[in-house]
Amino acid sequence: MTALPNGAGLTDGFGRRIDYLRVSVTDRCDLRCTYCLPKGFKGFEEPAHWLTLDEMARLIGLFVGLGVAKVRLTGGEPLLRRNLADLARKITALPGLADLSLSTNATRLVQHAHELKAAGVGRLNVSLDTLDADCFARITGRDCLAQVLDGLLAAKQAGFAPIKLNAVVQAGVNEADIARLMEYSLTHGFVLRLIETMPIGDTGRQAAYVDVTALGERMAREYRLIPQLLGQGAGPARYWVSPDGGMSFGVITPMSRHFCAACNRVRLGVDGTLYLCLGQNDSVPLGALLRAGASDGELLAAIRAAIAVKPERHHFNETPDKIVRFMSQTGG
Ligand code: GTP
Ligand code: 5AD
Ligand code: SF4
Repeated sequence: MTALPNGAGLTDGFGRRIDYLRVSVTDRCDLRCTYCLPKGFKGFEEPAHWLTLDEMARLIGLFVGLGVAKVRLTGGEPLLRRNLADLARKITALPGLADLSLSTNATRLVQHAHELKAAGVGRLNVSLDTLDADCFARITGRDCLAQVLDGLLAAKQAGFAPIKLNAVVQAGVNEADIARLMEYSLTHGFVLRLIETMPIGDTGRQAAYVDVTALGERMAREYRLIPQLLGQGAGPARYWVSPDGGMSFGVITPMSRHFCAACNRVRLGVDGTLYLCLGQNDSVPLGALLRAGASDGELLAAIRAAIAVKPERHHFNETPDKIVRFMSQTGG
């Protein structure tokens, strides 16, 4: 592999350093969250188009050679992909990689938490919108809240830290459950983050939007939390902490206060498509180039050229109909 000179890194046309790659290892999911996938959705990609784990590892290795230090495995539900721990081991062995994390719905964490920890996955973000079993079943289409909570406890026991809970807030659906999620997070030392719905796919557009900037400020006042000005890492969340530092809480507000000026990430779909922005259609078929026999040098050049034209920001507010693909295709 032709790594670039030290410090060269990837910088886009707006001067943003791109050092975070999010990889969708499957577009399938065992849940059907209403804001994400339509009920009964079956239009997933055929596995023949999927990159193998070795092909994924090759592309990820090229990104890491270009200065990407953080990789997140996502989906769909990544734990549906067989031998995921093998991929994790390949990624953590890459020189220059500082952080490997995973986004999951936790339905299979009881079986996989220890294995993934041992494979080098450091951080877990878990989707959890409610602690009410009926509400959970209404949102996800499956009555399996207990399984998810068991998965979270298994992850805690396996030693993942931090464990962040991602709660997508929907008006009239789980808004009233947020206080309970706060208490639960406090009890277990999880970091709760409230997320605004984005108009991604018809499902995302139909979700009942809540301005989470306002909700977060209300919760922070109620729990006497103070803003954490430096944040935690370079993600899109804004955080508050308790005065003793014991509790941490955040909001992710792509709609009411977007964070694109500080964007540090690009995404790889399960077929190796490089998506340059969650809220735009710009993409480059890296997987197809790889399968057509492209050399490492050619792939590196394609990645550099793509990063140079990464869009400035999403246009979710101006053109909400733009993104037809579902979140599971791009990676959550
Ligand atoms: P870490 O800081 O690495 O823990 O990750 P993160 O803060 O990016 O969080 P995570 O990967 O759990 O993403 C949480 C949610 O934030 C996603 O499901 C999206 O809803 C939203 N999000 C993440 N990345 C982006 C992005 O690039 N653009 C926009 N508009 N939303 C994003
Ligand atoms: N808007 C915002 N976030 C979404 N997710 C999926 N669909 C949407 C959407 N329309 C994110 C959530 C969820 C993860 C799997 O993907 O954070 O937890
Ligand atoms: Fe980055 Fe695009 Fe997400 Fe904005 S919407 S934070 S530019 S990926």
